[in-house]
Amino acid sequence: MAKIAIIGVGDISGIYLKNITGTFDNLEVAGVCDLIPERARRAVEKYPQIPKIYGDMYEAFADPEVDIVLNITRAYQHYDVTRAALLAGKNVYSEKPLATTLEQGVELIRIAREKGLMLGGAPDTFLGAGIQTCKQIIDAGFIGRPLAATAFMMSHGVETWHPDPEFFYKPGAGPMLDMGPYYTTALIYLLGPVDSLCAMTQQSFETRVATCKEKKGLVIQVETPTYVAGTLRFKSGATATMVMSFETLYSTHPCIEIYGEKGTLTVPDPNTFGGPVVLYRPEEGAAREVPLMAPYKENSRALGLSKMAEALESGKGDFVTSWRLTGHALDVMTGMLRSGEKGETVRMLDLEQATNPGETKK
Ligand SMILES: NC(=O)c1ccc[n+]([C@@H]2O[C@H](COP(=O)([O-])OP(=O)(O)OC[C@H]3O[C@@H](n4cnc5c(N)ncnc54)[C@H](O)[C@@H]3O)[C@@H](O)[C@H]2O)c1
Repeated sequence: MAKIAIIGVGDISGIYLKNITGTFDNLEVAGVCDLIPERARRAVEKYPQIPKIYGDMYEAFADPEVDIVLNITRAYQHYDVTRAALLAGKNVYSEKPLATTLEQGVELIRIAREKGLMLGGAPDTFLGAGIQTCKQIIDAGFIGRPLAATAFMMSHGVETWHPDPEFFYKPGAGPMLDMGPYYTTALIYLLGPVDSLCAMTQQSFETRVATCKEKKGLVIQVETPTYVAGTLRFKSGATATMVMSFETLYSTHPCIEIYGEKGTLTVPDPNTFGGPVVLYRPEEGAAREVPLMAPYKENSRALGLSKMAEALESGKGDFVTSWRLTGHALDVMTGMLRSGEKGETVRMLDLEQATNPGETKK
């Protein structure tokens, strides 16, 4: 049983608390903490089994009962919280992205490795029934060798509905770092590591006007690309075309498709755990929906955390949502932005080597 200290009890904490307390029996909440104490109090009212409210995150990091710190603060706060937790000697599971720059991500991984701590995080949607079924179909050879893929996240942004839309238009967010983790992680999981990429980026509007009821009329300065289009070359030789947009009013593109030598696989929305999974093979004459062949069809956030807890208990060290995946995804996403900015092809970092404590202590 791993005891979890939750840092940040905002919007997404509801599903984490529900699943930690109800779905995954190897997880237990050690305590919660929020800069807005009322939020922590409300969590304890709803889940009286939460034993503690920490005064601040440092109090949580000093608690000897805590096995894993769950960092579910906002993207631009991840680095500071994760860094402080690691320096205090705690294992960390962070919401996506791992950090907002590659340099920060590398530093976090380096600290974790130097201290022999576990580090990883979201997304874990790819561990759900939908993408697990896709993985089984690919591994069983149903579409043959994957040759190429497309990944489209086509939206007009969040200011119409999100109660606090400003930070989505600041560096560290935008479509690439906010929604990109789901798409990037799914592609890496299904096609393997990325070798290199190139992208073009644009920001078509200088400002956005919030129409959500909480911030209606607020003028938001846009400070990050809101349309990112690029091509990834995987180590396997496959290529993927990726578009992450906050500039699109309507689109019929599927979220992710994988084109193999022998068939095409339509992958479900990678921001969900379920299906549908659709397979086309020429000899079958038409595309068909494939029954899901794995558990976790429903919103199972904390599944990655549960896998981390399993690895912690068994002493295995590595786990499926570890920094090897989240760090590589961060390299790809920040690489897309860097490529667009500089007009250059970007090669992915050898993270193992770049963060090897033996190499970096010299
Ligand atoms: N909201 C969603 O639907 C959703 C979905 C998937 C992933 N996520 C991810 O989850 C993370 C959190 O998102 P959210 O929507 O819950 O944000 P939020 O702003 O609603 O909540 C974040 C909370 O963290 C607290 N916080 C920040 N720094 C802290 C610190 N040092 N100590 C204690 N508390 C601190 C804030 O006070 C706030 O209550 C983000 O990384 C986001 O990308 C959110």
